[in-house]
Amino acid sequence: MAKTYNWAILGCGHIAEKFALELKELPNANLYAAASRKLNNAKHFASKFNFKKAYGSYAEMVNDPNVDVVYIATPHAFHLEHTLFCLQHKKAVLCEKAFAINSNEVKQMIASSKENNTFLMEAFWVIFRPKLKKVIELIKTENLGKLNFVKSDFHFNSEYHPKNRLYNIELGGGSLLDIGIYPVFTAMTLLGIPNKIKAIPHFSPTGSEESISMLFNYKNGATAVLTSSFNSYNKNESELCFENGIIKYERFSENPISVFKNGERKEITFESNKNLGYKYEAIHVMDCLDKNIIESPILTNMVSLNLMGILDDVRKKANIVYPKHDLN
Ligand SMILES: NC(=O)c1ccc[n+]([C@@H]2O[C@H](COP(=O)([O-])OP(=O)(O)OC[C@H]3O[C@@H](n4cnc5c(N)ncnc54)[C@H](OP(=O)(O)O)[C@@H]3O)[C@@H](O)[C@H]2O)c1
Repeated sequence: MAKTYNWAILGCGHIAEKFALELKELPNANLYAAASRKLNNAKHFASKFNFKKAYGSYAEMVNDPNVDVVYIATPHAFHLEHTLFCLQHKKAVLCEKAFAINSNEVKQMIASSKENNTFLMEAFWVIFRPKLKKVIELIKTENLGKLNFVKSDFHFNSEYHPKNRLYNIELGGGSLLDIGIYPVFTAMTLLGIPNKIKAIPHFSPTGSEESISMLFNYKNGATAVLTSSFNSYNKNESELCFENGIIKYERFSENPISVFKNGERKEITFESNKNLGYKYEAIHVMDCLDKNIIESPILTNMVSLNLMGILDDVRKKANIVYPKHDLN
């Protein structure tokens, strides 16, 4: 019989709700504890999703010996602190993206995972979703030649408010770390680490970066044009232009993937998800725990570190500063 794991949620906010909704579907996941800075919030969350325990502090939760694995769902400015706290208490960690604010922080998290011999993975859920897997399969099977150009965006419109997490620098606000990370990840997965980066940001009145346009150049002549913003909508689409054709897909929609080749267009549909697909990363974490490994073979520490390294470089070019989290 499959081993079951006691999951705890650290930070009962917006994304934690979506994650818990899908975690509930997994037979080997016990919804064990909800931990919030306020007991009432923890109780409300726990009763909504049927968690057994509600804790009014993160410390009480990590001191519970029955917790096996913690999903960290706080704003990214606290990911380093909360991850170290859990790992030091030997709790396996799945920590939301952006993994931290800079690569120096990511390195400390990885070192702590090794030091405590405890599992750590970034909750970069798209890697585990069927749509991205299908796109990668199509790249391998469609014989489109060399990939020369990637265009990828992520935008949504969020009303400006200085206290809103997205605009609050103290919490790690800004479009690059929140959603620009997705197009950057697309370019990194398909083209690797860029050779040259240019970036033009636009800042909100709090000084947080509200939108950014990025241009990546690669040694092999390829180019990526990437954007993110909190001030407009778009289809969150990626267009991959190869020597002999194009693959085009919307990151999260149910719309099919399009392949253009030899003057013809092919639409590829595949089994869609009822939910968004947060469960796939949780399934993978429990597979890793079953195998007693402390690092995912798919979303390795190096993938997270490389991704954050590119984000650091973009920030240097665009002068995006988080005062308490210096880039070195
Ligand atoms: N994978 C995805 O699709 C996805 C989507 C959205 C967000 N995210 C990521 O998930 C993380 C959380 O995002 P969210 O939208 O869920 O944020 P949120 O709702 O604004 O906040 C999450 C929770 O963090 C806790 N928290 C701890 N210290 C805090 C502080 N000083 N100020 C505010 N909240 C604090 C709070 O929980 P308690 O009060 O219960 O302690 C809060 O409810 C971010 O890193 C974000 O990038 C991922």
